[in-house]
Amino acid sequence: MLIEKIEAAASYLEPFWNSSEIGVVLGSGLSSFTKEISSAKSIPYSVIPHFPRSTVEGHAGSLLLGEIGKFKIAVLSGRFHYYEGYSLQEVVFPVRTLIKLGIKTLILTNAAGGLNLKFKPGDIMLIRDHINFIPDNPLRGDYDSRFGKRFVSLVEAYPKRLRDLAKKHSRKLKNPIHEGVYLALPGPSYETPAEVKMFRLFGADAAGMSTVPEVTAAVQLGVSVLAISLITNVHTRGSSPDHSEVLETAKKSEKKFCKLLREIVLNLDSIKNADT
Ligand code: HPA
Repeated sequence: MLIEKIEAAASYLEPFWNSSEIGVVLGSGLSSFTKEISSAKSIPYSVIPHFPRSTVEGHAGSLLLGEIGKFKIAVLSGRFHYYEGYSLQEVVFPVRTLIKLGIKTLILTNAAGGLNLKFKPGDIMLIRDHINFIPDNPLRGDYDSRFGKRFVSLVEAYPKRLRDLAKKHSRKLKNPIHEGVYLALPGPSYETPAEVKMFRLFGADAAGMSTVPEVTAAVQLGVSVLAISLITNVHTRGSSPDHSEVLETAKKSEKKFCKLLREIVLNLDSIKNADT
């Protein structure tokens, strides 16, 4: 059973566990955030029971347990994607394991393509809401009440208090950010011009190939989510997205992205009391 696999992964990690209440998932090209972490212990995914393995360039594949300032943190560097052929239950397995170990807040990051024409490559967007175009759901299948409710509301999936905190610190860093709707695609092909037009009409501001499954699983388990996209390319007329462009923009902008992430982590406890 799935829950037993999660328990096996969690028991393997228990001796290394640092009582972190904050989990972070690093998206494509954003793994340099790991440099911000002190006293880190790195555990390769390949040694953790039942963890899938990462296959994509730009995804390292290890769990880091360490500190940022006085805060303990658990960082998943490398994620699993639907387009790699994993089931969504596999995709969300690492996040469910961290939640089993005790994290209360999950920060998800990703690289995304801008649909909103006000966006520029290198911009940062907080996810306010999402549209799911991945033709599956990690909660689909046999129901186990130990995961939470069967029918999960996603109305408050991205709590305002966490978004407000991120906005406050982006202002402090003089690094303005957007807020918008993320549309999740199965990938790995990028969207066509006709799809871009349709997604804009739907109200989407950015498109990517991740995050929504993890958000869904985390919300079911009662964990608060903050999700942040780095806009690596913008779908303008005649443009054609390319993975090397995605990684290149991520590389250029990751410093400012990591600075913001660090500031958010350092200030999370300022809203802890409201975090129920
Ligand atoms: N589309 C989908 N996913 C992406 C993109 C994009 O343009 N850029 C980075 N991830």
